[in-house]
Amino acid sequence: MRIDESEDTTSNPRIADGERTMNEIIEIRLTRRAFLGGLTTTTLGLALGGCATSGDSTPPSAGLVDFDFEEIRRGLDSTHHVPTGYTADVLLRWGDPLFEDSPPFDPMRQSEAAQLRQFGYNNDYLGFVALPADGAGRARGLLCVNHEYVSTGLMFPNVAQQYPDSMTAELCLTEMAAHGGSVVEILETTDGWIPVVGSRYTRRITAHRTPMEISGPAAGSPRLIARDDPTGRTAPGTLNNCAGGITPWGTWLMAEENFNYYFLGAPPDGHPESENHKRYGVPAGLFQWGRHFDRFDLSSEPNEPNRYGWVVEVDPMDPASTPKKRTALGRFKHEGAESVIAPDGRLVIYMGDDQRFDYVYKFVSDARVDTDHPSANTDLLDSGTLYVARFDVDGSVEWMPIVHGLGPLTAENGFPTQADVLIETRRAADLLGATPMDRPEDVEPDPRTGSVWVMLTNNHDRTVEQVNAANPRARNRFGHIVQIVEPDGDFASTRSRWEILVECGNPGDPSVGADWNPLTSENGWFGSPDNCAIDPSGRLWVATDGNEETGAADGLWAMTTDGDRRGTGKAFFRAPVGAEVCGPKFTPDGRSLFLAVQHPGDGTGATFEAPRTRWPDFEEGMPPRPSVIAIRRRA
Ligand code: FEO
Ligand code: CA
Ligand code: CA
Repeated sequence: MRIDESEDTTSNPRIADGERTMNEIIEIRLTRRAFLGGLTTTTLGLALGGCATSGDSTPPSAGLVDFDFEEIRRGLDSTHHVPTGYTADVLLRWGDPLFEDSPPFDPMRQSEAAQLRQFGYNNDYLGFVALPADGAGRARGLLCVNHEYVSTGLMFPNVAQQYPDSMTAELCLTEMAAHGGSVVEILETTDGWIPVVGSRYTRRITAHRTPMEISGPAAGSPRLIARDDPTGRTAPGTLNNCAGGITPWGTWLMAEENFNYYFLGAPPDGHPESENHKRYGVPAGLFQWGRHFDRFDLSSEPNEPNRYGWVVEVDPMDPASTPKKRTALGRFKHEGAESVIAPDGRLVIYMGDDQRFDYVYKFVSDARVDTDHPSANTDLLDSGTLYVARFDVDGSVEWMPIVHGLGPLTAENGFPTQADVLIETRRAADLLGATPMDRPEDVEPDPRTGSVWVMLTNNHDRTVEQVNAANPRARNRFGHIVQIVEPDGDFASTRSRWEILVECGNPGDPSVGADWNPLTSENGWFGSPDNCAIDPSGRLWVATDGNEETGAADGLWAMTTDGDRRGTGKAFFRAPVGAEVCGPKFTPDGRSLFLAVQHPGDGTGATFEAPRTRWPDFEEGMPPRPSVIAIRRRA
């Protein structure tokens, strides 16, 4: 999501100036240099057959794109761009009807009732669950789409001018209905992918009208009790669903990220949750819902924020199923939840906490995944160990268990139970000495190689004194990508190796301190990596959120990770002005690529009346519409 400087200051109490001496900093840099090229980066030749989440059975020749495409040029304009020989079709736009009875989109009179039956706003994560081909042999699938947040001033007419007083209760309800997620059946025709309106799988998930179960070790904690639920085991919806994942058994993981944005007010004086809320930046008050609804007013509902910041598991095959918040995966500003099966059969989920100076995590299930019986995995995510990463100067990663009773995670330190440890995951990780990172976004494992790719967007706030080995740049405006290599492909390992793939930004500007392979072209470098994907042939693709700060649009780049060209990027897709690119997702056959174009036309001063672009409709009076596009090679 688009984050302004003032909205993302750290709440990590460990971040204080003067933690390191200059000699330590020099040593960190020299040691890191010694690693470069030292860690093996070729594929490990692992055969984890049948377990991968990324379609490992597809032959490379079936791929939509290879790195031979004609690179597009850097630039910034009102529309999107793909290389010659490819098409990009708009598949789903904010407001598109999803059900037979959905009203047509009318941006001048958008309502909660209409929005509940239409595609939501600011599409982010894209999951694809393949369905059997239809009677005509056409490919089908379920697209699982997160709707992270709304760009209020672009969404409603005549609201930006008097904001926030212009936000009526009805507008707030419409915003809530535009959050959450959509399950949409899509069908590949000779003319491209189309949504199947009124499919039996169609579902809208929202911030306020999708009852959810809270499961796992924190379920039933008194700290999760609110007026609408004395049991502490439910929530009325989900907030700020950013990236996510699809499990090997076909469920959809929605990661709750910046939940602090939705709360106003303050808990009663001396309330025990006050310090906890502070560590999560609650309340940030970006949305006005707390003006009209007690649920979002901390003075009425001081525990309510504790029901968010979790990973939500949804069965997209059953629109009547109750989503479950899996508390064993911890509570923080979850960016994504990409998973892989370890050699011993347990599930490993990698997760970033997207805030300056916060951490990288992984969850390892207790039980093995039953790949033959999907329903046997129904509650697999309720039992396991959550780990947080410490990136050491010698190139190793120590994964530290976040378990009640271990080390400092005791009652004496304010953690009476594992539920408390999980509700305050950030504070637990602080005490364990995890490495403060430069905004961890997507973290994606590659089952073929044992590598895990960590996108670190940026961190303007890191001072010279605060650099560490894995975050070596002060004033890191453009982020970097870290490679973790799990030993012998053992994703459940508690000790790994790490290395930096690239340090992003303009390599031609010495003040940036970027580090790319010198073979990178003038279009091939970028800033602010956010989401990523590994295609069915095993190649890494990186989408950005913040590249406009380099003077060019956000987009999607192919990244070479091995050989002489390791650390080169190649520009494949350019977004319209104001947009970030989310959710890169390839179909299992590699012939189609879905991208989520989020907040097109946004930017300082942009409004419904005066957006920076009217993509993708380009009709006078029609606002820009966040949309999912499908890219294919021309026949
Ligand atoms: Fe929602 Fe961290 O991006
Ligand atoms: Ca982002
Ligand atoms: Ca993101």
